[in-house]
Amino acid sequence: MMRVLVASALAPFLAGEAVPHDVHVELLPEEAATPAGDYVGILPLLTRRLGEAEFDRLPALRVVANYAVGYDNIDIGAARRRGIAVSNTPGVLTGATAELTWALILAAARRVPEGERLVRSGDWMGWAPTQLLGMSLEGKTLGIVGAGRIGQEVARRAPAFGMRIIYWSRTRRPEWEARSGVEWRPLDELFAEADVVSLHVALGDGTERLVDARLIDRMKPTAILVNTSRGAVIDEDALIAALETRRIRAAALDVYAREPDVPARLRALDNVVLLPHLGSATEEARRGMWRLAWRNLMRGIRREPLFDPVVQP
Ligand code: DGY
Repeated sequence: MMRVLVASALAPFLAGEAVPHDVHVELLPEEAATPAGDYVGILPLLTRRLGEAEFDRLPALRVVANYAVGYDNIDIGAARRRGIAVSNTPGVLTGATAELTWALILAAARRVPEGERLVRSGDWMGWAPTQLLGMSLEGKTLGIVGAGRIGQEVARRAPAFGMRIIYWSRTRRPEWEARSGVEWRPLDELFAEADVVSLHVALGDGTERLVDARLIDRMKPTAILVNTSRGAVIDEDALIAALETRRIRAAALDVYAREPDVPARLRALDNVVLLPHLGSATEEARRGMWRLAWRNLMRGIRREPLFDPVVQP
């Protein structure tokens, strides 16, 4: 019997799955430490860190099928050294995350949460010509940082709002530029030129605190910073300082440096939209993530090639 661990929050998806006769699934509660044992596969949430210490306790492990497109929770070098396959869930959540990015852009530009809070408070006195004025997106410039699947999908929706697009990524995408008319900029220039900066880089490989005080200081005072990637991509203290001093217009965040902790100073501000990491939170995307992760788990335990592998020994 091949023993595998599956995050217990995914039990509802597992219930609809035909588990092969030679596989024994054990649920792994989110708050529990990763157990020791002869498990050959694990399907964890992005909140579970898997590195040398955990791998030491899992000597039979063949595959980590992460339930997320980001895999910064996994020590990829350690997995590679030990011949453990690693997969993520690209593609199936691209549209959902792009949609949520637009929800955040619109919410920050048009001050949607502030308006909602005003109505709920019972203090709204009625229509007024200068009440909660926001920024129109029409004719403005969207700066996409990171031109992977999600960044490109966010950009694809921009013309509907009359925005022009500039982007930065380490490797330029000439085909994308030719196909969609997006223009590449050095990172410094993108921050200075864009009215909305939206972050879509993976965490790791030099992107931790990529957006620091110096870059934020390049932004227009009217600009908005949006983050649906990973919280640690931004220097959170620097962003809080910029929002407190109204150095930039607003921020809209779905992710934080130390989730689920969101700094009290950030929560106290009205010029930031705060969501609880909802990028892929649609029924369709979460089901798609399950299908892909489960199929990769089943392949990995049999040492078969994974779909879109991150590490394929
Ligand atoms: C991911 O997949 O990395 C998102 O952050 C959660 O779906």
